[in-house]
Amino acid sequence: MSLLEVNHLTQQFGGLKAVSDVSLTIEDGELIALIGPNGAGKTTLFNMLTGVNVPTSGEIKMATDKGQVLINGKRTDQVAKLGMSRTFQNIRLFAELSVLDNIKIAMTSNTRENFVETMLRLPSFYKKESAIEDEARKLLTDFQLIRYARSTAGSLPYGLQRRVEIVRALATKPRLLFLDEPAAGMNPEETADLTAVISRIQKDYGVTVVLIEHDMSLVMNLAQRIYVLDHGSLIASGTPAEIKQNPAVVAAYLGGEAVAEG
Ligand SMILES: Nc1ncnc2c1ncn2[C@@H]1O[C@H](COP(=O)(O)OP(=O)(O)OP(=O)(O)O)[C@@H](O)[C@H]1O
Ligand SMILES: [Mg+2]
Repeated sequence: MSLLEVNHLTQQFGGLKAVSDVSLTIEDGELIALIGPNGAGKTTLFNMLTGVNVPTSGEIKMATDKGQVLINGKRTDQVAKLGMSRTFQNIRLFAELSVLDNIKIAMTSNTRENFVETMLRLPSFYKKESAIEDEARKLLTDFQLIRYARSTAGSLPYGLQRRVEIVRALATKPRLLFLDEPAAGMNPEETADLTAVISRIQKDYGVTVVLIEHDMSLVMNLAQRIYVLDHGSLIASGTPAEIKQNPAVVAAYLGGEAVAEG
């Protein structure tokens, strides 16, 4: 059973089919890239998979302990509880809060805190609070962010804000992490750091990663498999080597960016 199975998924906006009859699978532990020209429907597909958009038709099924669960029509918080997490194309941190608090909030977002326990400040509340603090600090240390723990998130350089956002998504302990253009706006050094971060999330944390990216060097370096969308339709899938030589992919990118490394 695949971790995620998508069958004939379509998203219609008025007369526009932003995503049209897309079927794909994501296996447990994989690192997948979703590429395609601007407006191809990549973010719209992510939005359906993560409960932001309700699909017009088709189905999304996720493997869980209790067997396959239909994701369609579930809210973002329900999808998150099943083990999906994501970042957005534009940074969405709590800019006024500290980096540490951003991570701590994410860690508690998936657990239903006991209201009475919290209000009465019972000993168990403090025990949990300190465990959360320790775990958040460990995550920040793991991703070389600990020295910014007390900085407000919005005050960090762009590349580090992006990293905080990814670590925040990881803090919800997902099985499946979706990253929408994580390298956008980064310089080559920041992109190299990001490549290492994403690779560690897959290898050390055992998280399945799906990323949308226009930076082909990052895609070709990281992805085990690539899906290509064009005008809402899936036009190709395969290994990086296969995708680079695929005539339909090369044609889709003609006039846009070439599918070349670097
Ligand atoms: N909520 C919406 N209502 C109407 N049209 C939408 C909506 N969201 C996206 N679209 C349209 O759907 C198409 C696909 O958009 P989408 O954002 O999914 O593309 P994308 O592949 O992520 O592009 P980019 O690489 O530029 O981020 C575009 O034509 C877009 O204008
Ligand atoms: Mg997009």
